[in-house]
Amino acid sequence: MTLENRALFIIFGGTGDLARRKLYPSLFRLFRKGQINKHFAVIGTARREWSDTFFREVVSESIQSLSPTQRELEEFTSHFYYQSHNVNNTEEYVVLEKIAAELDRAYELKGNRLFYLAMAPQFFGVISSHIKSENIMTEHGFSRLVIEKPFGTDYKSAKKLNNEISAVFSEEQIFRIDHYLGKEMIQNISAIRFGNTIFESLWNHKYIDNIQITLAESIGVEERGGYYDQSGALKDMVQNHILQVVALLAMEPPTIFSDEAIRSEKITALQAVRVYSPDEVKDAFVRGQYGTGDKLQQHFKGYREEEGVDTLSNTETFVAGKFLIDNFRWTGVPFYVRTGKRMTEKGTRINIVFKESPINIFRGSETPIQEANSIPQNVLTIFIQPTEGFSLTLNGKEIGDGFNIDPVRLDYRHSAEASENSPEAYEKLILDALKGDATNFTHWDEVASSWKVVDAIRQTWDKEIPNFPNYTAGTMGPECSFDLLEKDGKQWVWQPDEWYR
Ligand code: BG6
Repeated sequence: MTLENRALFIIFGGTGDLARRKLYPSLFRLFRKGQINKHFAVIGTARREWSDTFFREVVSESIQSLSPTQRELEEFTSHFYYQSHNVNNTEEYVVLEKIAAELDRAYELKGNRLFYLAMAPQFFGVISSHIKSENIMTEHGFSRLVIEKPFGTDYKSAKKLNNEISAVFSEEQIFRIDHYLGKEMIQNISAIRFGNTIFESLWNHKYIDNIQITLAESIGVEERGGYYDQSGALKDMVQNHILQVVALLAMEPPTIFSDEAIRSEKITALQAVRVYSPDEVKDAFVRGQYGTGDKLQQHFKGYREEEGVDTLSNTETFVAGKFLIDNFRWTGVPFYVRTGKRMTEKGTRINIVFKESPINIFRGSETPIQEANSIPQNVLTIFIQPTEGFSLTLNGKEIGDGFNIDPVRLDYRHSAEASENSPEAYEKLILDALKGDATNFTHWDEVASSWKVVDAIRQTWDKEIPNFPNYTAGTMGPECSFDLLEKDGKQWVWQPDEWYR
């Protein structure tokens, strides 16, 4: 039986892209499943002058792809209310509190409130302080703050932002979204690690040679050129999503699967990620920017020709690098990461590359034998998206005479149906926030450590002008990304475009 949750959602930025693309469809899915039903209401706020009726039309529009019935549409959207709101105007928070109190009574919400800031971070402080000064938090029921990235643009600004919201909300009330943590296969990392003795016992520097994390996107910057040009791939993807994946792979087993225990282990892991000196940055990290490219009869513009982007921009659209974790478990194991726009294909995957067998006993005997000098390394691959599943390469004997080693791949994929029906990342995260489960949200200490690691890279890069563009749209990134591993005697396991090199 699903337990119905009661809450008032106050969405700041209710007319925005995120609300329409992610939040309303996710709320609708929860509504359909009965996880929210009679006892919920939504107040959307934004500057525009909209009526409740118009707002409901917009919400209807945003859930069309989920094919709601007329009845579902009417019922669902009847819970939505709109307030035109200037975040700097105290009077308007007074009105907001009145509407909130009325809805609380009408829908019997028991004082539960979820403040969702789907807006630019410069407004987080002013909104939080008004929520406090105008008493919009209730004394009965819960009050929680859900916020979106980017959480600051460096450690200093993130700390300032955190001080502002922490003056109003305690850490337990703050839910910082990293939508990767809502993805099915990211959550599966813990199951694979801690549910399988065969992996957890090998999960350390004695048996793992290197770990590779790729977050490749085939899209360019689309209509977000203005934002992206100020951010770049390092801040857009590495500071948050990639370092979160690193933390999940590197953390010690928590004693129990609770939000507190998991986050505490992730914090410890992130604090052990080495903050590089400028020379170490130059050795361990490379960046790229895409130029024009043609693939499968499609022509792609170069980054500098994209809308909203400076024509001389030196913003990176690609990053590859090596993180080192200075602790007992991971000493000497490189965590190679890469992410970029306009790469060969969309694919998020993790490759755990195990060490070679200590000795190749099949080499040099009299019978026809393994031709290559070494036995292929075992690789555990976790496919995050678009395909979901995992695979493990093992070595066996090739059928027939002689004794050739034949690597085989054990492959498991979630069925298309299971993937289709699995809840979307935002749906899971909203539900978690309603339940007060912070496991899949980032703690301030995680954010702080990630920024310190990333700031060191950014500051070194900012002292030199890169030679951009340096990779062709539609490829797996610049040469220097391949060289980065080659100089360690390794290579990227996933190379969908070998033809290009
Ligand atoms: C966002 C970034 O956080 O993640 C985007 O700002 C990026 O630039 C997106 O496209 C990728 O998310 P996903 O879920 O499509 O892998």
